[in-house]
Order: sequence, then C-alpha cells, then structure tokens
Amino acid sequence: MTTTCTAPGKIYLFGEHAVVYGEPAIACAVELRTRAQVKKTDAISISSDLGTTGLDFEVHPYVCAAIQKMGSPEVCIKITSEIPVGSGLGSSAAVTVATLAAINIECSQGYEKEKIAQMAHEIEKEVQGAASPTDTFVSTFGGVIEIPSRKRLDLLDCGIVIGNTGKGASPKKTAKLVKQVAVLKEEYPDSINPIIKTIGSFAKHGEIMVTQKNYQALGKLMNVNHGLLDALGVNTIELSALVYAARNAGAYGAKLTGAGGGGCMVALTDSQVEVAHAIEKAGGKAIITRFTREGVLQE
Ligand code: PMV
Repeated sequence: MTTTCTAPGKIYLFGEHAVVYGEPAIACAVELRTRAQVKKTDAISISSDLGTTGLDFEVHPYVCAAIQKMGSPEVCIKITSEIPVGSGLGSSAAVTVATLAAINIECSQGYEKEKIAQMAHEIEKEVQGAASPTDTFVSTFGGVIEIPSRKRLDLLDCGIVIGNTGKGASPKKTAKLVKQVAVLKEEYPDSINPIIKTIGSFAKHGEIMVTQKNYQALGKLMNVNHGLLDALGVNTIELSALVYAARNAGAYGAKLTGAGGGGCMVALTDSQVEVAHAIEKAGGKAIITRFTREGVLQE
C-alpha cells in the first residue's frame, strides 16, 4: 500500500506581527499544497527537490523530525510541493503536516487531526527554535481562521493572487523580523503600540466583512494593513512594487503576507489573470489560487 496526503499553505488576510503581541489576526488556507507519499519499506528514504537521503536532518529537517515523532517507522517518503519555500506561505508546516498524516495512515497509528496539528507545531519549534501554532493549525484544518481564538469564519469565494518577490526567502527570516519589531516597540512604545493595536483592529473589522463577503471593504483594509506593516519596517521595495501593481490592475486590495522582508504579497481580486500579469510585469512570480476549507487530506 502507498498513502498520499496533501496539506495546504496559508496567507494572512490581516494581523501578522501584531498577533505576536496578542492582537487578533485572520489566517487563511490557500489551495497550494505539499504532497507526501509514504510507503512502508525496509529502510528510511526521503526524496524531494532537495535530493534523496536517509534520515538526514540537514537536508530534510521537517520530514526527519516527523518520522522520528511517529516512532521512526521504516518508510519511503516522496515530497512534492506547490508552495514556495521560506516565503511566508507556511511551506514547512505543510510538509510536516502532510508527512505526519501520511505516516499516520500508512502505519495505522490512529492519531486524530488535533494530535497531528500539535505534533507538527512541536516539530516546527524543535527545528526552528520558535514557531507560532498558526501555520500548522491552518494547514491541518484549512479554512479562514481567526487567531488566537481559532474561530472558523466563512470561506471567501473571491480569487487570490500571490506574488513572490523571489527575494529574502529564508526560514530564519521570521525570527529576525519579529526581533526587529520588538526593538522598535521597546524604543518607541508610545508610537508603536498604537500601530500594533490598529493592526489588531483590522481583524476585528475583517471578521464582519468576511461574513458579509464584502471584498471591497476587506481590500481597503488590507491596503491600510500593508501601510502599517511598512511603518513597522518589515516591507521591502520589491514587495511594494508587486502590491501597487496588483492594486493598479484592479485588485480589491493587496498587502505583504507573513513576516515580510521579502517573500510574498497577496492580492484579493476577481480579475486574477489581469492581476497576475501585472505582478509578473513588475518583476514578481504570480501564483493564481483560491481559499480552501480543506486542511490535510488523503488522496
Ligand atoms: O512568515 P511567516 O509565515 O512565518 O509568518 C510570520 C508571522 C508573524 O506574525 C510575523 C510571526 C508569528 O509567529 O506570528
């Protein structure tokens, strides 16, 4: 038997960075997936775009940690992914969740989804030193999720275009940028705290707008959110070039997503082809996708 599971990536509609200080955020699973194919064999082997290895934590840290977490069964694992790596779209959470879920089924371990999400979060913490549970939770359960309450909001049926700057991709980037915001906040608490509070207010307004499917209003607030992320110092000229290109091509709104400092932006739009062209013309790699209610799935 072979078991194949897929798990989605995520974007932030609102609230990255402010969520670190307890403000609400809205994170959404998107239909870009990492696929883990697992087969019981007589020796551990892992293959991906990074090569074929045994239990090599240098090359495949998340997959190796997942194998170990499941009791080191002898399995052959093949990873393929549509999610750009280290660009704020939750690629490491998706590979971890998909691998755990596929081993769980192939080796009849019987864990529930809650346990898969929890183990995936532990693995992200082990590998990265620190990690919020958002990526692993959203990748496991899918949907549009308010953080930290984990309340499920209605699914949005509007299109999404992700623009990848192709710059600054690194798993260590998030920790560096979170630290950078913390320093700014310590230096100027009276100036920076209100910015963080205001970012938190977008998620509160956003919850109502999501229910109303008010894409114009959501887009308008995404634009303001991008401006305040810029104020916090996590924007880049490349991200803004893609954000403005998307807005000028008719997107409801566009902002950077995730930690910033490069990586990806996200545009909310019903003119996906036009927005994708504009992003490519501005130097980015455009990915047309949509929101998904499906988290980890067996194929
Ligand atoms: O770039 P990502 O997808 O790891 O998102 C980081 C989001 C932050 O709010 C900046 C940090 C966090 O752990 O919530």
